[in-house]
Amino acid sequence: MGKVDYLRLSVTDLCNLNCIYCTPLKKRQFLTHDEVLRYEEMARLIQLFVKAGIRKVRLTGGEPLIKKNIITLIRLLREINGLEEISMTSNGVLLFQLAPALKEAGLDRINVSLDTLKKERFRRITGMDCFDQVWQGIQKSLQINLKPLKLNIIPMRGINDDEIVDFARLTLEQGFIVRFIEFFHTNQRSKKLISSLIPSRETKNIIKSKLGELKPAEMPKGNGPAVYYQLKDAKGAIGFISGTTGNFCYSCNRIRLDCAGRISPCLFSGCLYDARPLIRGTQDDYRLLEDIKGILNIKPRHVKLNIKEPQIEMSSLGG
Ligand code: 5AD
Repeated sequence: MGKVDYLRLSVTDLCNLNCIYCTPLKKRQFLTHDEVLRYEEMARLIQLFVKAGIRKVRLTGGEPLIKKNIITLIRLLREINGLEEISMTSNGVLLFQLAPALKEAGLDRINVSLDTLKKERFRRITGMDCFDQVWQGIQKSLQINLKPLKLNIIPMRGINDDEIVDFARLTLEQGFIVRFIEFFHTNQRSKKLISSLIPSRETKNIIKSKLGELKPAEMPKGNGPAVYYQLKDAKGAIGFISGTTGNFCYSCNRIRLDCAGRISPCLFSGCLYDARPLIRGTQDDYRLLEDIKGILNIKPRHVKLNIKEPQIEMSSLGG
């Protein structure tokens, strides 16, 4: 079990897209304004997590860029001593406008979820006609050095599998890191799509047959679950995340905190600990820190990747 030094903070349960594999089928009850932690509360919790050993924070959602004044949160986090990296996973819809301010506030890098390079297909997958906007946001981020920029693609049979090679080819021309994420079953909606899962092995073979050998690549930053390769003479790299056919629990180094203050040691273990009553109560930092250390220690016992009927809302927990 890896040392837990990476925290994913879901800053909002709202999203501006409606992706076929993610948005829940049933109408959701969104959190109320009062239930959501204020930025100062989030920053206080993160500061304690950093004292307990966290070194990297990734902002997720919902969609983090629709959160009002997200720049303010990044500034608050940047002030935390010992926090080495702040990154974000976004759908990129608002990236073009916000990228310069994000960079200036101290965001180190960004991952963009993008499942197609085709305009009309983008609309079908996400419910919104904004491929061009996302692509401009990606280019802008590269220009202003929000790097390395990672693109997350879920290859799905019959939906976007004809674009696997196109995505891989992007790494030849620009310094993209393109990551193919195996689809996994999280809620009732994704259950309907599980037959479209393409195992990483198959994706890799498709790329090799069209574009040639993939050499194992050393990645300087991040020690997440992806395994990286490079095509000959490529500027970027290709990663595979095999959450369904593989098992990377042993190397998992992450913990999740949602915008309501719920801490979860594993995507598949549900919420373990509700920190909101404590952060809003009379609990001092010293007691809270003891609790947080306890949660980080519990993580190894919560490896449940093989449970049969997961109910995880990626749309609010951000993967
Ligand atoms: N299977 C695999 N990846 C998923 N994501 C969201 N839902 C799923 C799923 N069912 C990915 C998104 C995003 C990341 C945060 O999680 O594509 O890139």
